[in-house]
Amino acid sequence: MQPLLQTKQLTKVYRVDAIETPALRGVNLEIYPGEFTALAGPSGSGKSTLLYLMGGLDKPTAGEVWLGGQRIDGLSKAQLAQLRLWQVGFVFQAYNLIPVLTALENAAFVLELRGEPREVREAKALEALQVLGMQDYAHRRPNQLSGGQQQRVAVARALAARPKIILADEPTANLDSKTGLALIEHMRSLNREQGITFVFSTHDPRLLERVDRIVRLEDGQIAA
Ligand SMILES: Nc1ncnc2c1ncn2[C@@H]1O[C@H](COP(=O)(O)OP(=O)(O)OP(=O)(O)O)[C@@H](O)[C@H]1O
Ligand SMILES: [Mg+2]
Repeated sequence: MQPLLQTKQLTKVYRVDAIETPALRGVNLEIYPGEFTALAGPSGSGKSTLLYLMGGLDKPTAGEVWLGGQRIDGLSKAQLAQLRLWQVGFVFQAYNLIPVLTALENAAFVLELRGEPREVREAKALEALQVLGMQDYAHRRPNQLSGGQQQRVAVARALAARPKIILADEPTANLDSKTGLALIEHMRSLNREQGITFVFSTHDPRLLERVDRIVRLEDGQIAA
Protein backbone atom coordinates (compact mmCIF):
# COMPACT_ATOMS: atom_id res chain seq x y z
CA MET A 1 0.00 0.00 0.00
CA GLN A 2 1.17 3.52 -0.79
CA PRO A 3 1.51 5.89 2.17
CA LEU A 4 -1.04 8.71 2.23
CA LEU A 5 1.54 11.06 3.70
CA GLN A 6 5.28 10.60 3.74
CA THR A 7 8.26 12.61 4.88
CA LYS A 8 11.78 11.92 3.62
CA GLN A 9 14.78 13.16 5.57
CA LEU A 10 12.66 16.10 6.66
CA THR A 11 14.81 18.81 8.21
CA LYS A 12 13.86 22.17 9.65
CA VAL A 13 16.20 24.77 11.06
CA TYR A 14 14.59 27.95 12.38
CA ARG A 15 16.72 31.04 12.08
CA VAL A 16 16.01 33.98 14.36
CA ASP A 17 18.61 36.71 13.91
CA ALA A 18 21.89 34.83 13.86
CA ILE A 19 20.65 31.99 16.04
CA GLU A 20 19.80 28.66 14.44
CA THR A 21 17.49 26.19 16.14
CA PRO A 22 17.36 22.76 14.57
CA ALA A 23 13.76 21.60 15.07
CA LEU A 24 13.69 18.51 12.84
CA ARG A 25 16.71 16.42 11.94
CA GLY A 26 15.98 14.05 9.07
CA VAL A 27 12.53 12.68 9.91
CA ASN A 28 11.34 9.72 7.82
CA LEU A 29 7.69 9.04 8.54
CA GLU A 30 5.03 7.13 6.61
CA ILE A 31 1.34 7.56 7.37
CA TYR A 32 -0.98 5.01 5.74
CA PRO A 33 -4.62 5.57 4.78
CA GLY A 34 -6.93 5.07 7.74
CA GLU A 35 -4.25 5.31 10.42
CA PHE A 36 -4.88 7.08 13.72
CA THR A 37 -1.43 8.22 14.78
CA ALA A 38 -0.22 10.28 17.71
CA LEU A 39 2.98 12.31 17.80
CA ALA A 40 4.31 12.28 21.34
CA GLY A 41 7.46 13.63 22.91
CA PRO A 42 8.65 16.38 25.23
CA SER A 43 8.04 20.07 24.74
CA GLY A 44 10.32 21.39 22.00
CA SER A 45 10.87 17.97 20.40
CA GLY A 46 9.42 19.14 17.06
CA LYS A 47 5.81 17.88 17.05
CA SER A 48 4.17 21.12 15.94
CA THR A 49 6.89 21.78 13.39
CA LEU A 50 6.40 18.34 11.86
CA LEU A 51 2.62 18.89 11.60
CA TYR A 52 3.08 22.30 9.97
CA LEU A 53 5.49 20.90 7.40
CA MET A 54 3.32 17.86 6.71
CA GLY A 55 0.42 20.15 5.90
CA GLY A 56 2.45 22.49 3.73
CA LEU A 57 1.99 25.41 6.13
CA ASP A 58 5.73 25.96 6.30
CA LYS A 59 8.65 24.95 4.11
CA PRO A 60 11.38 22.52 5.16
CA THR A 61 15.05 23.49 5.20
CA ALA A 62 15.76 20.16 3.51
CA GLY A 63 13.94 16.94 2.74
CA GLU A 64 10.59 16.15 1.15
CA VAL A 65 6.89 15.84 1.97
CA TRP A 66 4.63 13.68 -0.19
CA LEU A 67 0.85 13.59 -0.03
CA GLY A 68 -0.73 10.69 -1.91
CA GLY A 69 1.97 10.48 -4.56
CA GLN A 70 2.40 14.25 -4.99
CA ARG A 71 5.41 16.11 -3.67
CA ILE A 72 3.99 19.10 -1.79
CA ASP A 73 6.92 20.85 -0.13
CA GLY A 74 7.66 22.96 -3.21
CA LEU A 75 4.11 23.87 -4.20
CA SER A 76 3.00 27.44 -4.77
CA LYS A 77 0.67 29.23 -2.35
CA ALA A 78 -2.26 28.72 -4.71
CA GLN A 79 -1.57 25.01 -5.08
CA LEU A 80 -1.29 24.64 -1.31
CA ALA A 81 -4.59 26.45 -0.88
CA GLN A 82 -6.25 23.88 -3.16
CA LEU A 83 -4.70 21.10 -1.13
CA ARG A 84 -6.12 22.53 2.08
CA LEU A 85 -9.49 23.05 0.49
CA TRP A 86 -9.95 19.45 -0.63
CA GLN A 87 -7.53 17.13 1.08
CA VAL A 88 -6.05 18.27 4.37
CA GLY A 89 -7.76 19.60 7.48
CA PHE A 90 -5.99 21.40 10.31
CA VAL A 91 -6.64 21.95 13.96
CA PHE A 92 -3.87 24.15 15.25
CA GLN A 93 -3.11 25.97 18.45
CA ALA A 94 -3.54 29.33 16.77
CA TYR A 95 -7.21 28.94 16.02
CA ASN A 96 -7.34 31.04 12.86
CA LEU A 97 -11.04 31.68 13.17
CA ILE A 98 -12.42 34.51 11.11
CA PRO A 99 -13.47 37.24 13.57
CA VAL A 100 -16.44 38.60 11.60
CA LEU A 101 -18.04 35.19 11.12
CA THR A 102 -20.18 33.33 13.66
CA ALA A 103 -19.17 29.93 15.02
CA LEU A 104 -21.53 28.29 12.52
CA GLU A 105 -20.16 30.28 9.58
CA ASN A 106 -16.60 29.53 10.67
CA ALA A 107 -17.38 25.82 10.95
CA ALA A 108 -18.96 25.92 7.48
CA PHE A 109 -16.22 28.04 5.93
CA VAL A 110 -14.32 25.35 4.00
CA LEU A 111 -17.62 24.01 2.68
CA GLU A 112 -18.56 27.47 1.50
CA LEU A 113 -15.25 27.81 -0.36
CA ARG A 114 -16.04 24.50 -2.02
CA GLY A 115 -19.31 25.94 -3.23
CA GLU A 116 -21.66 23.69 -1.27
CA PRO A 117 -25.20 25.02 -0.95
CA ARG A 118 -26.06 26.89 2.24
CA GLU A 119 -28.46 24.31 3.68
CA VAL A 120 -25.98 21.48 3.18
CA ARG A 121 -23.01 23.28 4.65
CA GLU A 122 -24.97 24.62 7.61
CA ALA A 123 -26.33 21.16 8.39
CA LYS A 124 -22.83 19.67 8.33
CA ALA A 125 -21.37 22.51 10.36
CA LEU A 126 -24.14 22.32 12.94
CA GLU A 127 -23.66 18.58 13.30
CA ALA A 128 -19.95 19.12 13.95
CA LEU A 129 -20.68 21.89 16.48
CA GLN A 130 -23.15 19.58 18.24
CA VAL A 131 -20.54 16.88 18.63
CA LEU A 132 -18.39 19.42 20.43
CA GLY A 133 -21.23 20.68 22.60
CA MET A 134 -21.17 24.04 20.84
CA GLN A 135 -24.63 24.13 19.23
CA ASP A 136 -25.85 26.79 21.68
CA TYR A 137 -22.99 29.07 20.64
CA ALA A 138 -23.51 28.70 16.89
CA HIS A 139 -24.39 32.36 16.38
CA ARG A 140 -21.61 33.90 18.45
CA ARG A 141 -18.47 35.41 17.02
CA PRO A 142 -15.03 34.20 18.14
CA ASN A 143 -14.45 37.20 20.43
CA GLN A 144 -17.63 36.25 22.31
CA LEU A 145 -16.24 32.78 23.08
CA SER A 146 -13.63 31.50 25.53
CA GLY A 147 -10.32 30.15 24.24
CA GLY A 148 -11.45 26.55 24.70
CA GLN A 149 -14.72 27.27 22.92
CA GLN A 150 -12.86 28.86 20.02
CA GLN A 151 -10.72 25.76 19.82
CA ARG A 152 -13.84 23.62 19.61
CA VAL A 153 -15.10 25.73 16.70
CA ALA A 154 -11.76 25.19 14.95
CA VAL A 155 -12.11 21.46 15.49
CA ALA A 156 -15.69 21.57 14.17
CA ARG A 157 -14.49 23.36 11.04
CA ALA A 158 -12.01 20.57 10.30
CA LEU A 159 -14.53 17.83 11.07
CA ALA A 160 -17.29 19.40 8.98
CA ALA A 161 -15.05 19.45 5.90
CA ARG A 162 -14.35 15.69 6.13
CA PRO A 163 -10.92 15.84 4.48
CA LYS A 164 -8.84 12.74 3.71
CA ILE A 165 -6.46 13.58 6.50
CA ILE A 166 -6.69 15.79 9.56
CA LEU A 167 -3.55 17.15 11.17
CA ALA A 168 -4.15 18.37 14.69
CA ASP A 169 -1.82 20.03 17.16
CA GLU A 170 -2.88 19.03 20.67
CA PRO A 171 -6.60 18.96 19.85
CA THR A 172 -7.68 18.23 23.42
CA ALA A 173 -5.45 20.78 25.13
CA ASN A 174 -7.56 23.52 26.77
CA LEU A 175 -10.68 21.34 26.76
CA ASP A 176 -12.35 20.18 29.95
CA SER A 177 -12.11 16.43 30.41
CA LYS A 178 -15.69 15.68 29.33
CA THR A 179 -15.40 17.67 26.09
CA GLY A 180 -11.93 16.29 25.44
CA LEU A 181 -13.22 12.75 25.73
CA ALA A 182 -16.20 13.48 23.44
CA LEU A 183 -13.81 14.90 20.86
CA ILE A 184 -11.55 11.85 21.04
CA GLU A 185 -14.52 9.51 20.59
CA HIS A 186 -15.74 11.55 17.64
CA MET A 187 -12.34 11.58 15.95
CA ARG A 188 -12.11 7.85 16.48
CA SER A 189 -15.53 7.22 14.95
CA LEU A 190 -14.79 9.43 11.92
CA ASN A 191 -11.60 7.45 11.53
CA ARG A 192 -13.35 4.06 11.76
CA GLU A 193 -16.55 4.89 9.89
CA GLN A 194 -15.35 7.34 7.24
CA GLY A 195 -11.74 6.25 6.99
CA ILE A 196 -10.41 9.75 7.72
CA THR A 197 -6.73 9.54 8.60
CA PHE A 198 -5.59 11.44 11.70
CA VAL A 199 -2.17 12.59 12.80
CA PHE A 200 -2.06 14.66 15.95
CA SER A 201 0.34 15.72 18.63
CA THR A 202 -0.72 15.19 22.18
CA HIS A 203 0.36 14.90 25.78
CA ASP A 204 -3.08 13.56 26.71
CA PRO A 205 -2.86 10.01 28.13
CA ARG A 206 -6.54 9.33 27.31
CA LEU A 207 -5.83 10.08 23.69
CA LEU A 208 -2.61 8.05 23.63
CA GLU A 209 -4.60 5.06 24.93
CA ARG A 210 -6.85 5.11 21.87
CA VAL A 211 -4.40 5.38 19.00
CA ASP A 212 -3.10 2.77 16.55
CA ARG A 213 0.41 4.06 16.64
CA ILE A 214 2.54 6.45 18.68
CA VAL A 215 5.45 8.16 16.97
CA ARG A 216 7.78 9.51 19.62
CA LEU A 217 9.90 12.53 18.80
CA GLU A 218 12.99 13.45 20.73
CA ASP A 219 15.15 16.39 19.85
CA GLY A 220 13.82 16.58 16.29
CA GLN A 221 14.21 12.91 15.53
CA ILE A 222 11.98 9.85 15.73
CA ALA A 223 13.05 7.97 18.85
CA ALA A 224 13.62 4.24 18.45
N1 LIG B 1 8.88 30.03 14.69
C1 LIG B 1 9.95 29.56 15.35
N2 LIG B 1 11.10 30.26 15.39
C2 LIG B 1 12.19 29.81 16.04
N3 LIG B 1 12.23 28.62 16.69
C3 LIG B 1 11.11 27.89 16.70
C4 LIG B 1 9.90 28.31 16.04
N4 LIG B 1 8.95 27.35 16.22
C5 LIG B 1 9.53 26.39 16.96
N5 LIG B 1 10.82 26.69 17.25
C6 LIG B 1 11.78 25.84 17.98
O1 LIG B 1 11.83 24.57 17.36
C7 LIG B 1 11.87 23.52 18.31
C8 LIG B 1 10.68 22.60 18.10
O2 LIG B 1 9.49 23.30 18.44
P1 LIG B 1 8.03 22.70 18.28
O3 LIG B 1 7.08 23.81 18.50
O4 LIG B 1 7.94 21.96 17.00
O5 LIG B 1 7.99 21.65 19.49
P2 LIG B 1 6.76 20.82 20.12
O6 LIG B 1 7.22 19.39 20.21
O7 LIG B 1 5.52 21.10 19.37
O8 LIG B 1 6.66 21.40 21.61
P3 LIG B 1 5.35 21.59 22.56
O9 LIG B 1 5.04 20.22 23.14
O10 LIG B 1 5.85 22.53 23.62
O11 LIG B 1 4.24 22.16 21.74
C9 LIG B 1 11.93 24.19 19.68
O12 LIG B 1 13.27 24.28 20.05
C10 LIG B 1 11.33 25.57 19.41
O13 LIG B 1 11.85 26.51 20.29
MG1 LIG C 1 3.73 22.06 19.88
